Amino acid sequence: MTTVPPGQPSRDDQTAQPSGVSAVVVLAAGGGTRMRSSRSKLLHEVGGRSMLSSALRAAAEVQPEHLVVVVGHARDQVEPHVAEVAPQAVTAVQEQQLGTGHAVLCGLAVLPPLEGEVLVTYGDVPLLTGETLTDLVAEHRRAGNAVTVLTAEVDDPTGYGRVIRDAEGGVLRVVEHRDADDTERAVREINSGIYVFAAATLTAGLGRLDSDNAQGELYLTDVLATARADGGRVGALVTEDAWQTEGVNDRVQLARLNAELNRRTVERWMRAGVTVVDPATTWIEADVDLGRDVLIHPGTILAGATTVGEGAELGPDTRLRDCEVGAGASLVRTEAHLAVVGAGATVGPWSYLRPGTQLGRGGKIGGFVETKKAVIGEGSKVPHLSYVGDATIGVGTNIGAGTIFANYDGRDKHRSEVGDDVFVGSGTVLVAPAALESGAYVAAGSTVTEPVQGSDLAVARGRQRNVEGWADRRRSRLAAADGTAGASSGEGHIAGGDSRGGQ
Ligand code: UD1
Ligand code: CA
Repeated sequence: MTTVPPGQPSRDDQTAQPSGVSAVVVLAAGGGTRMRSSRSKLLHEVGGRSMLSSALRAAAEVQPEHLVVVVGHARDQVEPHVAEVAPQAVTAVQEQQLGTGHAVLCGLAVLPPLEGEVLVTYGDVPLLTGETLTDLVAEHRRAGNAVTVLTAEVDDPTGYGRVIRDAEGGVLRVVEHRDADDTERAVREINSGIYVFAAATLTAGLGRLDSDNAQGELYLTDVLATARADGGRVGALVTEDAWQTEGVNDRVQLARLNAELNRRTVERWMRAGVTVVDPATTWIEADVDLGRDVLIHPGTILAGATTVGEGAELGPDTRLRDCEVGAGASLVRTEAHLAVVGAGATVGPWSYLRPGTQLGRGGKIGGFVETKKAVIGEGSKVPHLSYVGDATIGVGTNIGAGTIFANYDGRDKHRSEVGDDVFVGSGTVLVAPAALESGAYVAAGSTVTEPVQGSDLAVARGRQRNVEGWADRRRSRLAAADGTAGASSGEGHIAGGDSRGGQ
């Protein structure tokens, strides 16, 4: 076995990818039993991204030649997820979780023999950034180390491996909490479990692991001591940001890290020119993109791949998932998914935009309106209490209050077409597939079942008939009945009135 001299780049580094490492091994075989979930722990989300996809995204930033994920528990869920979010990654199976050292052995077993550097990280540290991993690699190279470990000083190091240093400050070894004595336990510098190894140091060290420890496991941490015994330099990068090394074992930690990531994301957007009235009740997921001078009111949740244009105003109490909002648009108390809202358009309050909604520039979707697969043209308005499903509406059209696009016949959905500058009166039912040509009018209260031409007014309702004198006659009848037989009830309550004596 050839040993790469510390600090000297391997052949791979000089040729193919000068800045990349040979491999990143992501450990993700553990059980996650404390989540008490039927879903793999690694698929739970922080900032709208699965913890595993965050880990893989960070790993990809160090440009590894090989990216391997060590899977075990719930691999029927984890493997397809890896294939989806990081198709360039390979998976290695660790049947039994015999320790972190064993897990890395499993990971390396599916790769060709490596030179250069191997970075080891975890699948469940969602705040870890690619930048930190890049810094770790840079420090490893700068110092000419055989191993460089990412560490942090924490107030409560309980449970973590402690970093034991020599008098000169060099890293001697890591001792697990359960194997540590009182002096070692007093150390507050913890091992994050994230390291860069010279490949040769790693393979040599893994070959010599034993399970002579409190947990009877093969500890990856023991490679630090063997590297040192072999004359290698072992160094540490102490991060100021301990959050990045924090793992998630249960849902309390999940919420904690989610809140911290959100705090960071909201702050980043405020620094980029977004006004957030109440950061504490504003949730912005990691993949959201916002323009300058966006104004966000309290209780707003921006999720998925939502993008918001310059100067748009959102909230209060608005949730958008995978939506595209144009510049200067306004959405108040709105629930929307996979919807596009044009520049300057207004939505809400209390609007529900379902997938396939596209509201044109300057358009309006008002209070208590639900839309689905509805393409609503520029400047068109659906201001009040309507349902627009499976419809295309042209520009400058007004859909009156309480209009229903009856898109479902009990078996199939049908699309309706409404042209430009159409006027639909209030309380109308448009039975799909309805066809209203540009310029058409529909009288209020119509149930439209036939096409309407642009020159026409459709009136499709019972004609009003007034029964002359009926109300007076009724009142006299009731008065007479009261006078003779006392108060009689149960008859003649059409108008909803009580019997008023003397009329
Ligand atoms: C490990 C470190 C400890 C460090 C801590 C940081 C060792 C021996 N100890 O401790 O020094 O402070 O991480 O969180 O390495 N995993 C596998 N297969 C296994 C065992 C673990 O894939 O056989 C994975 C887990 O899924 C997890 C990661 O490795 O993502 C760490 O495992 P965990 O059991 O949490 O390590 P600790 O014992 O807490
Ligand atoms: Ca752990």
